[in-house]
Amino acid sequence: SSVPVLTIDGPSGSGKGTISALVAQQLGWHLLDSGALYRAVGYAAGMEGLDLSDVEAVTRCARTTRIQFRAKKGAETRVIVNGHDATDELRTETAGAAASAIASVPSVREALVSLQLGFRKAPGLVADGRDMGTVIFPDAAFKVFLTASAAERAKRRYKQLKDKGLSVTLSGLQREIEARDSRDASRAVAPLKPAADALLVDTTGMGIDEVVAKVLAVVQP
Ligand code: C5P
Repeated sequence: SSVPVLTIDGPSGSGKGTISALVAQQLGWHLLDSGALYRAVGYAAGMEGLDLSDVEAVTRCARTTRIQFRAKKGAETRVIVNGHDATDELRTETAGAAASAIASVPSVREALVSLQLGFRKAPGLVADGRDMGTVIFPDAAFKVFLTASAAERAKRRYKQLKDKGLSVTLSGLQREIEARDSRDASRAVAPLKPAADALLVDTTGMGIDEVVAKVLAVVQP
């Protein structure tokens, strides 16, 4: 495909979600939040009462779950799972942990490939995830890998969740983030690691505008 892609990969709390949305808006490009797909499958599996370690069951779930993104002007995009607006449920750490569990299953990842490739539409795509630049869009012209210290990432998530009215502790969050990261980084398929040709940006101590400018400069030097 000749449609340009900018991949933004990195661990949770690196600011990927916020940065990807802002950059996509600035460029007028489409946005793929691939984490939401894994969260949606994890959520659907939970709703069905599936054992998340049952490979056959979660694979069937990944193949059959209907996931829709409903973009609203000036408001956040809603994620509809099997006809139910699950946006709020998908944001919780429980959903994140479920996503991370099913995301380590190769057949689950395969089931989500064509869905992700379908987001590549003119005039361009910003793809946010863990393996956007390494596995899904290896031919992307623009690749960024965002990082930040675990302490900083926990602080950001803490603020995000608090703002949404969820009750969490900073230390508990940091432990969960570290556990999820090490699982994402050590899994056999599509582990979290920068593509060889990605620009590494450590966002610790950086403001949102600063990171957005740095990422935009990759596309428009
Ligand atoms: O980015 P987000 O925190 O929403 O992702 C949730 C989980 O989904 C991650 O911890 C990771 O295990 C999985 N994921 C993945 N590949 C992606 C995006 C997310 O494995 N491209």
